[in-house]
Amino acid sequence: MSALLEVRGLTRAFLEGERKRVVLQGVDLDVEAGSCVALLGRSGSGKSTVLNLIGGIDRPDAGQVRIADTDVTALSERERTLFRRRHIGFVYQAYNLIPTLTVEENLLLPLELNARPPDQAKDTVADLLAAVGLADRAAAFPDRLSGGEQQRVAIARALVHEPMLVLADEPTGTLDADTGRQVLALFDRLLRARGKTLLLVTHSREVTRLADRVLTLEDGHLHSRAKEVVW
Ligand SMILES: Nc1ncnc2c1ncn2[C@@H]1O[C@H](COP(=O)(O)OP(=O)(O)OP(=O)(O)O)[C@@H](O)[C@H]1O
Ligand SMILES: [Mg+2]
Repeated sequence: MSALLEVRGLTRAFLEGERKRVVLQGVDLDVEAGSCVALLGRSGSGKSTVLNLIGGIDRPDAGQVRIADTDVTALSERERTLFRRRHIGFVYQAYNLIPTLTVEENLLLPLELNARPPDQAKDTVADLLAAVGLADRAAAFPDRLSGGEQQRVAIARALVHEPMLVLADEPTGTLDADTGRQVLALFDRLLRARGKTLLLVTHSREVTRLADRVLTLEDGHLHSRAKEVVW
């Protein structure tokens, strides 16, 4: 079986003043459909860069990202935007909900962008809000919600359009330990139950317990890491 996500030789450098800093030096990665891969690495090692390249927000200097049958790196910027909208769900550390839209409207937006019929979209959103335990907050604005509640909305938003691949960048990074645990349990429950494929950047040991595979980004390369290792 071929992987849902195939990354080959991903290379990315950034200019630091006059100097070129090579952040990724040929990253290879395969993620099977329905699996959860956790990505660890110290600050500045390039974890967010990897996610942004996979999600088509950024372009590599060399290498290839293939998702299902699409060579994402070969798409134009506009094609990448459309591909992302349709097939990828993003969860960020800072939730990134739109403050001027209610919870329900935040969740409807990805569906509107994908031209889903409004009635069907409303039902989908209602179901998902119930699944994340926030059915009664549909009309609230994000700033009225706690951090954990906002992250639950963000997870719902990342799933609402049934993406092939969910990318999460330190989704529990700003939450206290208990709330972080609840958010992770939600990830596990919602994503696993739906057979979603998840690539997760994290510092949390609990996330790595939830993952099928744990990889570390170091010196521009990905390394496998034994899950049993206590750290
Ligand atoms: N657009 C950019 N322009 C210049 N340098 C960048 C850019 N994006 C990232 N970098 C640099 O690339 C390196 C990797 O950044 P990245 O954000 O991927 O790290 P990270 O592993 O996600 O770190 P953190 O754990 O702190 O989020 C850093 O040195 C950063 O300064
Ligand atoms: Mg980062």
